[in-house]
Amino acid sequence: MNADSLGLYVHIPFCASRCRYCGFVSNIYDHDFADRYLEALRMELNAQPLTERRFSTIFIGGGTPSSLSVRQLESLLKMLPLGWAKEVSIEANPESATEEKLRLFSDNGVTRVSIGVQTFSHFGVKLLGRPHDPVTAQRRVAAAAARGFHSVNMDLIAGWPGQTASMLLADLAIAVDSGTTHLSCYELMRLPGSELTRALKAKAIPPQSDREARKFWDVTERFLGDHGFGHYEISNYSPPGFECRHNVNAWKGGEYIGVGVAAHSHLLGARYWNVSDAAEYVRRITSGDSPVEGSETLEADEKARETAVFWLRLSAGIDAAEFGERTGICLEHLYYKELPYLLGAGGLEWRIQAGRRFLRLTKQSYPVADAVLIDMV
Ligand SMILES: C[S@@+](CC[C@H](N)C(=O)[O-])C[C@H]1O[C@@H](n2cnc3c(N)ncnc32)[C@H](O)[C@@H]1O
Ligand code: SF4
Repeated sequence: MNADSLGLYVHIPFCASRCRYCGFVSNIYDHDFADRYLEALRMELNAQPLTERRFSTIFIGGGTPSSLSVRQLESLLKMLPLGWAKEVSIEANPESATEEKLRLFSDNGVTRVSIGVQTFSHFGVKLLGRPHDPVTAQRRVAAAAARGFHSVNMDLIAGWPGQTASMLLADLAIAVDSGTTHLSCYELMRLPGSELTRALKAKAIPPQSDREARKFWDVTERFLGDHGFGHYEISNYSPPGFECRHNVNAWKGGEYIGVGVAAHSHLLGARYWNVSDAAEYVRRITSGDSPVEGSETLEADEKARETAVFWLRLSAGIDAAEFGERTGICLEHLYYKELPYLLGAGGLEWRIQAGRRFLRLTKQSYPVADAVLIDMV
């Protein structure tokens, strides 16, 4: 375990309401249950097998952490070892990211706030079933930017039914204008079990036009590039120095501990994950049982392949020497069968910088990255 790059992920599974497209583990916020959940979190954290609970990055995600009350957020932040962390991120939604909560975050060591906006289109927020309106979203992002966090991220979704490239461009323009230093732009995924997926399957909503969707990638990259945002990961953009350290560590195969319902951990070569039902999670912890539902330990070369596939998401690519140091396996030997084909077909390329060799996705393969990466699993 390396405390210089060890991350802590804390899952808060509460939201104001259920968005139509969402498939993440989350429940409607209930004050008393949230109190019991936070107590279980404290117990799980204290039971971590760590002699020194030092984390280089902490990410409080959800669900919607900002749906907790001010008192609950205060007690959450107090139970976390924030002092050591170089980056402390928290996810917040516009409807609950009040001035009081933003102040609490900035006064208590949070360095990065990530606000889920998805779109500033009135039509879009209705279609997606978001619990806030675009004006509140814009106001809350500006309030976060004014509080002096090191970084403010905004999550946007591209490709919802009815969205055009000019609507996406309008979202990006507002995002850049409101002082964000990081943007996560996700392509809408049809997650199993979501209301929107069911409506699309039943043809109750017409799907996104393919012709329009093909423009989204270029529109986003060009507009954000012109405004100083580098495309550093498939779905993530920031000016240099504002990348999310916690996620970069995970993409490079680094270690992290996850606490809370459905949280995943990656430690000492093993992956394990907690039960995904919040009531069961609280029951297990309070009766002294382990919340872990499953685990796997991969063989060294399976593990190295998994690391490579995640790392290739970063546009800088895999530093071949660093990969060898981290995994103990030579990148070219690992992929001696696949590399000639993937390099020849233009899916991957080598880049040399300051004498170091980086294997990366080519620009043209970015929009179809999954099809390239599937050959490397
Ligand atoms: C799990 S959510 C938590 C953040 C917060 N609750 C929110 O909704 O903004 C993290 C991000 O995942 C993205 N997301 C959720 N469902 C998605 C889907 N079906 N397709 C693409 N992105 C999705 C959204 O951008 C969301 O902000
Ligand atoms: S998208 Fe975010 S706010 Fe909406 S239900 Fe999912 S986790 Fe909750």
